[in-house]
Amino acid sequence: MCGIIGYIGHREALPILMQGLKKLEYRGYDSAGVAILNKENNIEIQKCKGRIKYLEDMVREKDLKGTIGLGHTRWATHGKPNDINAHPHFSGDHETVVVHNGIIENYLSIKENLILNGYQFISDTDTEVLPHLIQSLYQGNITEAVRNSLKIVTGSYALGVISKKEPDKIVASRSGSPLVIGIGDQEMFIASDIPALLNYTRKMIFLEENEIATIEKNCIHVVNLEGEEIKKKVVYIDWDAQMAEKSGYKHFMLKEIIQQPLVIRDNLVKYIDSGRVNLSDIHLPQNIVNSLEKIHIVACGTAYYASLVGKYAIESLSGIPVEVDYASEFRYRTQLLSKNSLGIVISQSGETADTIAAMRSCKNQVYSELAIVNVKGSTISREADQVMYINAGPEIGVASTKAFMGQLISLYLFAIFLGKAKKQLSGQNEEKILNEMMRIPHHMETIFSQDDKIKSIANQFSNYQHFLYLGRDINFPIALEGALKLKEISYIHAEAYPAGEMKHGPIALLDVNFPVVAIVPRDHVYHKMINNIKEVTTRDAPVIAVASESDEQIKEIVDKVIYIPDVQTILSPLLSVVPLQLLAYHIADILGKDVDKPRNLAKSVTVE
Ligand code: AGP
Repeated sequence: MCGIIGYIGHREALPILMQGLKKLEYRGYDSAGVAILNKENNIEIQKCKGRIKYLEDMVREKDLKGTIGLGHTRWATHGKPNDINAHPHFSGDHETVVVHNGIIENYLSIKENLILNGYQFISDTDTEVLPHLIQSLYQGNITEAVRNSLKIVTGSYALGVISKKEPDKIVASRSGSPLVIGIGDQEMFIASDIPALLNYTRKMIFLEENEIATIEKNCIHVVNLEGEEIKKKVVYIDWDAQMAEKSGYKHFMLKEIIQQPLVIRDNLVKYIDSGRVNLSDIHLPQNIVNSLEKIHIVACGTAYYASLVGKYAIESLSGIPVEVDYASEFRYRTQLLSKNSLGIVISQSGETADTIAAMRSCKNQVYSELAIVNVKGSTISREADQVMYINAGPEIGVASTKAFMGQLISLYLFAIFLGKAKKQLSGQNEEKILNEMMRIPHHMETIFSQDDKIKSIANQFSNYQHFLYLGRDINFPIALEGALKLKEISYIHAEAYPAGEMKHGPIALLDVNFPVVAIVPRDHVYHKMINNIKEVTTRDAPVIAVASESDEQIKEIVDKVIYIPDVQTILSPLLSVVPLQLLAYHIADILGKDVDKPRNLAKSVTVE
């Protein structure tokens, strides 16, 4: 997904743009570029296919001086990754440049019309229609030219515009893709997300859909698509720059795996008061809770797997039926909703296009929409009726780990809250679960102490081309999450099944070259899992088991065992996922993969 950075102020823009682009690298890209408006009031563009270090080599030979500029990392949608299709893009008169994140869906018709009016295009991108359109509509006010252009385009965008015509401002806007404005001292910034600005400011303004900002170094004016003035509040971001750095770890992903105990502790501190769950930000009157017939949870990817764990927890603790759906499916199918149901959307970034669309599609059809998100100021956090933050801090690695943990903890606490409100969960049982939850961070540390063993297992299994992950009950979603972790960072094919499903097809895959990862804690389906494991080993498939410390027999049955402390079944996903995260991490690292920025992936999928 593309990344945008912009600067206007008293400092040289280029170093700030290059630093910002590096902070945005994790979002995934295939080309990069910068535009600087120099002191002679000319705009210079340098851009190229490939990594930012190639762009650094390019600009090092140039004397790009100026205190206003735009930078961009491109993730190709329309037009191959090459130097010409990279952003920024010039208008025909070379007086205006644009950087853009998103998709202009009606660009072909706009392009045809502009060509008929004499405009010449040099790239294959949808984006290039924007600078030409702005030029064609300019009548002395660059903001008006941008606003009138955006009334013509359809699709998703976050964009930055600078122009020689009005060299003291940046114009920025968004619809469907995030954009944040950083407020400094006689300087302003724009970026696709918060970490790119944390080295300069923590004071931010988040543009809402179809808002257009005119940014000068000491003031900001915001209007909507109709040109009406909008008052914006400044949000203070309490993440510091250090939190977004690696802190000595080889990869952000490893740092974020190790941070998981902290995420749990921070959430328990925030949401537990005198030994009881206290979700003061959640407003569900007793009469609504009593009449709740169903809960619908929608999400994508890892957040979807967290939702599946949430289903088990909410249903067993509160007795309320839960339906979980992929956001990309939910948004297009018949939605049988009612005012006696609750909608929950789960998203780390709060900017996933399908999840946003799913949330919007059921607006006003349910009693309330609760968002469980990580990023403050994100679209989902601002549009939902209620928000429960997972307090995981900035998650930089594309593969989600600590955010998944934060999503699980939030869902467990919400399940307890509902169970008590429905009078299905006694104070004694609440206390038992919470006391166990308080010990999870310590239990997690004992799993980390097996990291050398997990690394050794990864070494032995890193050359296999296929893996099957098996789990049952509340650990089946963890099998799904473990398989996703492996495939998305090591590029090894991995799929997950409920272990009971194996005989309905997947067992045909198994032989000595098809290892199985089995999650087999000592719970009510333990013996069923052992039977499934034996069916696997009789087909000569190697087995790696995630098993309870108290299990004396498992090591005789499987090839490798990673032990997790014994906990109540309902909380076992909090521990069983950790060995799978570390196994995937080490296999990918051993294979030399780009662990934090896997190929083809973006941290947040802000386009369909
Ligand atoms: C998980 O490791 C992936 N990065 C991906 O599946 C991710 O969980 C999904 O894109 C949803 O992102 P979100 O939580 O920001 O909405």
